[in-house]
Amino acid sequence: MIASTYSHFRKFSLFLVLYSVLIFLNLLYGPLVRATDSGLACPDWPFCFGKIFPDFDFNIFMEVGHRYYSGFLGMVLIAGTIWAAIVPELRKPFLGYFILGILLIASQVTLGGLTVLLSLDPATVNLHLLNAILFLLCIVTATFKARVLSKSINSNEFLTKQSLFQKDQIPLLIGVLLIFFQIILGGRVSSNYAGLACLEFPTCNGEWVPSVPEPKIQIQVQHRLGAYLVTFYVLLINLYGIFKGFSAETKKYVRTAIILLILQIGLGIVNVYAKLPKLVTAAHTGVAILLFLSVYAVWVQRASELSKSRVS
Ligand code: HEM
Repeated sequence: MIASTYSHFRKFSLFLVLYSVLIFLNLLYGPLVRATDSGLACPDWPFCFGKIFPDFDFNIFMEVGHRYYSGFLGMVLIAGTIWAAIVPELRKPFLGYFILGILLIASQVTLGGLTVLLSLDPATVNLHLLNAILFLLCIVTATFKARVLSKSINSNEFLTKQSLFQKDQIPLLIGVLLIFFQIILGGRVSSNYAGLACLEFPTCNGEWVPSVPEPKIQIQVQHRLGAYLVTFYVLLINLYGIFKGFSAETKKYVRTAIILLILQIGLGIVNVYAKLPKLVTAAHTGVAILLFLSVYAVWVQRASELSKSRVS
C-alpha cells in the first residue's frame, strides 16, 4: 500500500515537472510574439480571421501558434485534474492546485482575448504576463509538494501557515514580493515600448536622474532602480542565510538566485545596447521568471524544513 502510494507520488511528480517546463516555454513564446510584432496579426479572437486554421504567414503563425500551444496546455491541465481526482492518494494533496490552475488558465485565456480586442493595451498585456506567472507558480508549488511527498509520506504538513509566515520568514517573503514587483515594472517597460527610452547604461541619456518628465524614460528608469533594489536585497538574503544557518539545499537556491540576477542584469544591458534583439528579450523574461522562482524556492524550501522539524 505504502509502496504504491510512493509510486503514485513519483509518477505525478514527474508529470508536474514536465508540465512546469511546458508552461515555462509558453512564457518564452509570449515575449517572442511581441518581439516579432505579431501581437495583432489576427484582428479577432478566439478565431483568427474567423478561422481556426487561417492562411498562415510568419506573424499569423507566431500569434496563432501561441493560442494552439496554450490550448494544449489547457488540455494537459484537464488531464492532470482528472488524474488527481480519480486516484484517492492524489486527491487530497493535489486536486486543489488543479482547480486553482483551471481558474488561472480561464483568466489567462480571457486576458489573452482582451489583449487582442483592446489592441495591446499596456495594462492588459502586463496582467497577461503576471497571470501566466501565477499559473506557473501554482503548478511549481504542486511539483514541490509532490517531490517532498515522494520522499516521505509523513510530510503531509509540507507547508504550514506558521512556517510560511513566521517572523523570521518575512524577509524571504518580502524578497519574493519585491521580485514580483520588479517583473511588473519590467512588463511596463515592454508593454509601453519603453525599452529604448534610454540609450545607454547605467545612466539614461547622460543623466542619472532624468530631467525630462517623459513617461517612457520614467518607466525605463523606474525599472532600473527596481533592479538595483532587487540586487541589494538578494545579497542581503545571502547574508541572512549565513546568519540564520540555512540548510545546504536552501543555500543552493540563494546561490542560483545570485547567478540568475547577474545574468539578468547582463541581458538587460544587452537589450539596451543591441536594441532589443528578439531572443535576448525572450531570455530576459525567462530569466526574470527563473529568478522569481529561485527566491520563491528559498522561502518555500525553508518553510518546508521548518514544518518538518516541527512535526518530528
Ligand atoms: C532584477 C532584475 C530584472 C528583472 C527581474 C527584470 C525583468 C523584466 C521583465 C519581466 C521584463 C518584461 C518582459 C516581457 O514583457 O516579456 C523586462 C523588460 C525589460 N528590461 Fe528588465 N529586468 C531586470 C533588470 C533589467 C536591467 C538592469 C535592465 C537594463 C537596463 C533591464 C532592461 C529591460 C528592458 C530594456 C526591457 C524591455 C524589453 C522589451 O521591450 O522587449 N532590465 N525586464
